[in-house]
Amino acid sequence: MSATKDVRGVTLAQDPAREGCFAVVHTDAEMEDWPGMSDRARRQKLHRHMNNETGALEIAAQCLVDFPDAPWPLRLQLARQASDEARHALMLYQRLREIGGGKGEFPIANFEWGVTGMVDNLAGRLAIQNRTFEAGLIDLLGVLKNTWREAGDDTTADILEGILADEIAHVRFANQWIRRLTDENPRVLLQVARAIRFLGEVNARLAPAIGDTDAVGHTVTEARVLPPAVNVNDRLAAEFTEEEVHEVLRQAGFRSILSAEARERPR
Ligand SMILES: [Fe+2]
Ligand SMILES: [Fe+2]
Repeated sequence: MSATKDVRGVTLAQDPAREGCFAVVHTDAEMEDWPGMSDRARRQKLHRHMNNETGALEIAAQCLVDFPDAPWPLRLQLARQASDEARHALMLYQRLREIGGGKGEFPIANFEWGVTGMVDNLAGRLAIQNRTFEAGLIDLLGVLKNTWREAGDDTTADILEGILADEIAHVRFANQWIRRLTDENPRVLLQVARAIRFLGEVNARLAPAIGDTDAVGHTVTEARVLPPAVNVNDRLAAEFTEEEVHEVLRQAGFRSILSAEARERPR
């Protein structure tokens, strides 16, 4: 086990290296979350997303380092993912600069790295990073691409749509490999269950609560705590089963984005 840190009584993997210009924080309360689509809110959204993509790159790359005996086709998928995530981080960084931002303007946190780094098996890491965090990103991007387009920024909306297409592929290969590894060895299901339970425990301890305030005094509202609407079509494209999508919908209170075509399709 590599170095760890304590965050409000929860043990997480120590942060990955970051340039000195970045203020690295450890909880949501220390982050800045600017509401709406003001110039500052736009920069902050891109800045946060840029660091998350950097983290996704580091998590995929660390899996290659930590699990050299994983099946070769799976290692190839992880390597492709690392390459995609590097491109995502770079695209967001370039866009951030185009709209007047830069590295280090806002605090960053490396929550995903902190959680996945505590899991000592590949199926568990795929379950947390790809199948949970990146599946959540599919939902989030399903909403955000429209938010940016409606705000008149087609350039950023196009970037987010490109990232979304790649994230579907990342979640899909994780779903495929978790199924395959579980079929070959049912004990893998235990590893997955343990990893997901660990994530649930961490979230219960560290997730922001309604009424909390962030580093710049914004109160956490119910709208912020609610998960984004479930992106049903893209989750199905990422090979979640219909039952799994229904379960996510149930947990999210049935908020879903379906294409107009799918909504109008007769049942
Ligand atoms: Fe990505
Ligand atoms: Fe990804």
